[in-house]
Amino acid sequence: MNFTRRQILAGLAGVSVLGLGAGGARYWLGRPDEAKTHDYELIAAPLDVELVPGHRTFVWAYGGQAPGLELRARQGDWLRVRFVNHLPEPSTIHWHGIRLPLEMDGVPYVSQLPVLPGEYFDYRFRVPDAGSFWYHPHIASGEQLGRGLVGPLIVEEREPTGFRHERTLTLKSWHVDAQGAFSAFSVPREAARGGTPGRLTTVNGEAVPTLELPAGQIVRLRILNLDNTLTYRLGLPDAEARIYALDGHPVAPRPLGEEYWLGPGMRLELGLRVPAAGAELSLRNGPLRLATLKSVTSGEVSGDWPAALPANSLAEPDLAQAETLRFNIEWAGALSESVTQGGGFKFWQINGQAWDIGDRSCAERPIATLRQGRSYVFELRNVSQYQHPIHLHGMAFKVLDSNRRTIVPYFTDTYLLGRNETARVALVADNPGVWMFHCHVVDHMETGLMAAIKVA
Ligand code: C2O
Ligand code: CU
Ligand code: CU
Repeated sequence: MNFTRRQILAGLAGVSVLGLGAGGARYWLGRPDEAKTHDYELIAAPLDVELVPGHRTFVWAYGGQAPGLELRARQGDWLRVRFVNHLPEPSTIHWHGIRLPLEMDGVPYVSQLPVLPGEYFDYRFRVPDAGSFWYHPHIASGEQLGRGLVGPLIVEEREPTGFRHERTLTLKSWHVDAQGAFSAFSVPREAARGGTPGRLTTVNGEAVPTLELPAGQIVRLRILNLDNTLTYRLGLPDAEARIYALDGHPVAPRPLGEEYWLGPGMRLELGLRVPAAGAELSLRNGPLRLATLKSVTSGEVSGDWPAALPANSLAEPDLAQAETLRFNIEWAGALSESVTQGGGFKFWQINGQAWDIGDRSCAERPIATLRQGRSYVFELRNVSQYQHPIHLHGMAFKVLDSNRRTIVPYFTDTYLLGRNETARVALVADNPGVWMFHCHVVDHMETGLMAAIKVA
């Protein structure tokens, strides 16, 4: 592949600097449609924020905030983002869950060359599906996502959906100490287990915030797990809440139930009936409070439950003709001989192969090659004691069944494979390219649990 689209910034030309705030540079983000060449100018740059009261944390921000600026587009439209790198190291942007051409997928040396400090790159693609997606680098993910380079990408339906109100809630836990200083993003003994957890849990960058919602209305809550490691066990005790979409694709609305396990990279869209003014609900992770949802007086007449969201147009896999491919996800700690040779740790593997994040040629050895247009069933077998949110780039897949739980088949880009679970998912290989197929626990993907799947 020819990589040509990186551009070098002439000094700061093309970047509007708003001014220096106290303690750090703050950048202004161009508004959509202001320029003809792009809808957003998304600058990645260091920023100091107050995550821990009274202390400063030097995060890396997209558009002057961490988690990053919420990008929005309408289904079927082009999204054009000029990504400007003002970080001290190379980066890229991957658009998680968006079905797009390979050269826009943000994977270094597969889709594009890394965007070096002082360079920009124009991402330009159509967004075929409405739903809640997100974006993040695909280089040095532990550190770059850990420092705050994660942001929501919302694709709106073309027609009104019946939801008049919506809120985006991004979940992230930060690897910071009590003074707000970063601690290790990855600790080997944790990477070999469930991944290195952050210490400070936030919603929209704030620890246990109070979010005000209009009384009596049905609000669409887009809950995005942008965390490196944590699976959130989401609950809204005493709330009337229904699931409307999973990971960007609509489902037939159903009650939220007691707990929904949202793994790293996954998204949950709820309809929530906001109770009478003054009432408070608690969004929980297991027994822990993540946020308080406070009902405030609204002048509007009460809303009613919207109908199901319109389905995205995804190709239905032909199960009768599909070929089955098996993927075993294994713990491989015993095979970490590369460590003694000075290489990275290899704790995880797929079908006996461990991905080497330091080896640019890995993508040339795909774990499977699919014929374009054909249907496939992937049998995902987790033979480890830890769960893995298994993610595929470039295409959505349909979850069919599992030996551990009852599945109502649905389309997704990330499936949380429980310990010792075997699940079957199916897809039509309709997007040519070399697509990353990996666990979204960043520690796992960086210590082996990633592979490439080729569609040709
Ligand atoms: Cu969020 Cu390789 O993906
Ligand atoms: Cu992705
Ligand atoms: Cu994993």
